[in-house]
Amino acid sequence: MNDHMESVLFHESTILRRLDEIGAEITRDYAGEELTVLVVLHGSLLFAADLMRRIDLPVKVACLSVSSYHGGVESSGTVTFHQVEMPRMAGEHVLVVDDILDSGRTLGAITRRIREECRPASVKVCVLLDKNTARAEDILPDYVAFEIADQFVVGYGLDYCGRYRNLPFVGTLKSEHIRAAGEGQREVAT
Ligand code: IMP
Ligand code: MG
Repeated sequence: MNDHMESVLFHESTILRRLDEIGAEITRDYAGEELTVLVVLHGSLLFAADLMRRIDLPVKVACLSVSSYHGGVESSGTVTFHQVEMPRMAGEHVLVVDDILDSGRTLGAITRRIREECRPASVKVCVLLDKNTARAEDILPDYVAFEIADQFVVGYGLDYCGRYRNLPFVGTLKSEHIRAAGEGQREVAT
C-alpha cells in the first residue's frame, strides 16, 4: 500500500510520542476519577487502542458506530447512528475519541445525543486530527494530537472507501488512487 501514498504526514513513531503526551495529560486531568472512553467506530479504532494504553486510570470502554454520507473525499452532512440505543453512561465522565474533526457534524451529533440521552457527569472530545476547515458545527475539541491543513488523509484508522485504515501512519494518497468526487457516493462508517 505504501506505493499508493503521495506523502506521509505523521509517522508511527511521531504519533505514538504524541499519544504519550496526551495520555499523560488525560491521566492528570481526570486524576481520582474513572473514565469512560467512547470509541467512535471505525475511524478511531487504532487511535483509541493506542491512547487507552497510555491512560493510567480506571477506564471503561464503550463503542458507537456512526456513518456519514460521503462523495469520496468529502463528508456531506447526514449522520446515521447504527444502534438504536446509546451506551449506558449515566453519571460517567465520557471522553469521546474520534479520528478527525472535519465539518464537526459527526462530533456535534454524537455529543448532543450523549448530553440529551445519557446524563453523563461530563463530556469531553479527543481527536487525532483537527482539520483546518470551515466548520458546519462549532466543536472545540479538548484534546488534539495534530492539526492539519484542509486535505484528505488516510491511515492509522482513517479510510478512503473503507481502505487504508490499517496503515500505521497518516498520509495523503496519490491522485490516481482517488476516484473523481461524487463517483461511488455511498454511506460509509466514519
Ligand atoms: P465531520 O465532517 O467532522 O463530520 O467528519 C466526518 C467523518 O468524515 C470523520 O469521522 C471521518 O471518518 C471522515 N473524514 C473527514 N475528513 C477525512 C479525511 O481527511 N480522511 C478520511 N476520513 C475523513
Ligand atoms: Mg471515515
